[in-house]
This record gives sequence, structure tokens and C-alpha cells, in this order.
Amino acid sequence: MKSTNIFETHSHITKENRADRLGHKGGVLWLTGLSGSGKSTLATELEHRLFHNGYSVYVLDGDNIRHGLSSNLAFSPEDRVENIRRVGEVCGLFADAGFVTIAAFISPYREDRAIARKATGDAFHEIHVNADLETCESRDTKGLYKRARQGEIPDFTGISAPYEEPVNAELQVDTMNRDVEACVNALEDYVEKFLKQ
Ligand SMILES: Nc1ncnc2c1ncn2[C@@H]1O[C@H](COP(=O)(O)OP(=O)(O)O)[C@@H](O)[C@H]1O
Ligand SMILES: [Mg+2]
Repeated sequence: MKSTNIFETHSHITKENRADRLGHKGGVLWLTGLSGSGKSTLATELEHRLFHNGYSVYVLDGDNIRHGLSSNLAFSPEDRVENIRRVGEVCGLFADAGFVTIAAFISPYREDRAIARKATGDAFHEIHVNADLETCESRDTKGLYKRARQGEIPDFTGISAPYEEPVNAELQVDTMNRDVEACVNALEDYVEKFLKQ
């Protein structure tokens, strides 16, 4: 914190008040994985399903956030750290507001994910969207791996920048061997177990 002249205000509305109104707890489902592992696909499908089941749910997706909140950041290690710090704080606020917040970010550094976890606390759920580099590269839905291999994209995760696999994820979804439907089912079961009132 840069300034010391800060005085927090405190809401009269408790976590429990919000959960009673919404029918579920707030929380963050933090999807991490390589580009092309399936984060955005699963985030939007899960959001769709939860929304129609009555959840207050919202997706924050890496590519979208980089158009706005993080439009002044690139993909250098320092900028990635700042991107995840910001997004972690925003997710914490959404969770505090009672939302099931689905975050879809490569978030390649363990330490950054730990910082994001800290911003939310107990309601943070790290989910490893697991597909190996070979699988993601063969999908290459956006053509980015090909360009990264040709040296056109610097700091590309998995090619010219590291991805540190989660060691303490609450859940792992294997998108190499299970289809989208099965993965969304697993995520929905998880939400029902941990966030439903
Ligand atoms: N089980 C699965 N879960 C998610 N995506 C899958 C799965 N199996 C295959 N795919 C495909 O993999 C691609 C993942 O792309 P995307 O969701 O944009 O990844 P990311 O957001 O992680 O970069 C999509 O084309 C999707 O259809
Ligand atoms: Mg994506």
C-alpha cells in the first residue's frame, strides 16, 4: 500500500446476508492452464449452466480483461504479475459481492496464483484445466502456437515463457481425455458441493 492515510468503511451487509439472498456463497473458481487448454470454453459453458440454475455468476476472461482493465499491460514477467494481481483483487471483490466468479487466466506463475488466492481467502478455488503442450499445440485454435514457434510472439507460455503447474489445486479437469460436457459436469458438481447454500 503506497498511502498511509486510508480509512476503511465497513458494510452493514454480511456475507451470510448476501448468501441468504442469492441462495449460494460467493467464491472464485480460478481456472489456470495453457493457452488452448479449454479455460474460456469451460468458463462460458459453466456460466451458462449455472446462470440458468439460478446462480449469480460472472466470467472474467484473460483476453477480455486485456482490452480494458489491463489494456496497458503486455506479457513480460512484470506485466503478467501486475495483470494477475489486479484480476485477483477484482475477483475477490466479485466473490465478496456474493457472485460465483469464474476466472479464466493462464496465470503461469505459482506465486501469482498464491497472491490471487490471498485476495479472496477461503472462497478461492484453484482449478487446473489440464491439457499438455502437445494437445494444446495440436488444437491451436487461435493459430498462436504456430506463430510463437516461428518467433513472432515473444513470451508465449509453453514455448518461450514458463508454465508452472499447480501443486495444490482444489480440482483438476482433464480436457485431454474428457469432453467439454464431462468437464462442465465435474465443475458443476464441485460448485454444488462447495458453494450451494
Ligand atoms: N474437454 C474440453 N474442455 C474444453 N475445451 C475442449 C475440451 N476438449 C476439446 N476442447 C477444445 O479446446 C479448445 C480450447 O480453447 P479455449 O477454450 O479458447 O482455451 P483457452 O481459453 O484455455 O485458451 C476449444 O476449441 C475446445 O472446443
Ligand atoms: Mg481463453
